[in-house]
Amino acid sequence: MIQDKATVLKHENFQGDYRILHLATTGIGPHVQPGQFVHLQVPQLGDRILRRPFSIYKADSESISLLYKPVGRGTASMATLHKKSQVDLIGPLGNGYPEAANDTLPVLVAGGYGNAALYLKARSLKRKGVAFFGGRTAEDILCVEEFEALGWDVRPTTNDGSLGIKGLVTDAFDPWLLEQNERKPELFVCGPTPMLRAMGDRAIENNFKAWLSLDENMACGVGACLTCVIKQKTETGWQWARCCKDGPIFESREVLWDE
Ligand SMILES: Cc1cc2nc3c(=O)[nH]c(=O)nc-3n(C[C@H](O)[C@H](O)[C@H](O)COP(=O)(O)OP(=O)(O)OC[C@H]3O[C@@H](n4cnc5c(N)ncnc54)[C@H](O)[C@@H]3O)c2cc1C
Ligand code: FES
Repeated sequence: MIQDKATVLKHENFQGDYRILHLATTGIGPHVQPGQFVHLQVPQLGDRILRRPFSIYKADSESISLLYKPVGRGTASMATLHKKSQVDLIGPLGNGYPEAANDTLPVLVAGGYGNAALYLKARSLKRKGVAFFGGRTAEDILCVEEFEALGWDVRPTTNDGSLGIKGLVTDAFDPWLLEQNERKPELFVCGPTPMLRAMGDRAIENNFKAWLSLDENMACGVGACLTCVIKQKTETGWQWARCCKDGPIFESREVLWDE
């Protein structure tokens, strides 16, 4: 993990409200594991000095890219960054997704920026399986061609039916699961919390693994402040775990969801 001043190489509109920020940083790119994130300080924020976490969408030896959607003051201010702006980054942070087991069929499940968090995993997995992407409308279904080009069988679902099956990701996943009788699926999931819970519940009920990237608010990002804690099951009960350092990826059986 390093702290780096990165220079904006390019900042482009991607799809709908989503944008891609390309940053020159030689200290972070080469060390990134799929599912890790950076903690970015938005420079123009004035009174709001907390960093914001972003999954690393793409990385190479010279740069990283972040795929994000402006949702509040921090990300709106981030959207004004221009070529050659400098941003302060800490990363790569978090544990990242584990390797898939040898005998499973990898399955990706993503909603919103989840596609960004899963792209490097999709690229690194040797066996390509099925990718279930969910969103409100077609604009929220990101990077379909890129995942298909990697060899993934992409199944989109949208709430309004503007792309793929009308409904939730589970409306595509459940019938698919009923047809599986060879390899056990192994899920790599990133998306809104209800999606994480729904996929985690299915993994437990059907006895396969689901690696969930939890989306918790973060302050320090490095394990010091306990802003991001969740309840992690243990053999005797539960303990606090820090999403930024012990996660953000947890296996479904580890997570004790708040009621
Ligand atoms: C590990 C991790 C990786 C992430 N990766 C990405 C990424 O690759 N791309 C991306 O666009 N976003 C990502 N996020 C979410 C991103 O960090 C938030 O959108 C951002 O911090 C919001 O900051 P803000 O100041 O703009 O919004 P705030 O002013 O803090 O919040 C404004 C509104 O946005 C909502 N909001 C805040 N945080 C989130 C969130 N985490 N998810 C959904 N809504 C939120 C709030 O509820 C509020 O309604 C990630 C979050 C985590 C924990
Ligand atoms: S954000 Fe500070 S411990 Fe995780």
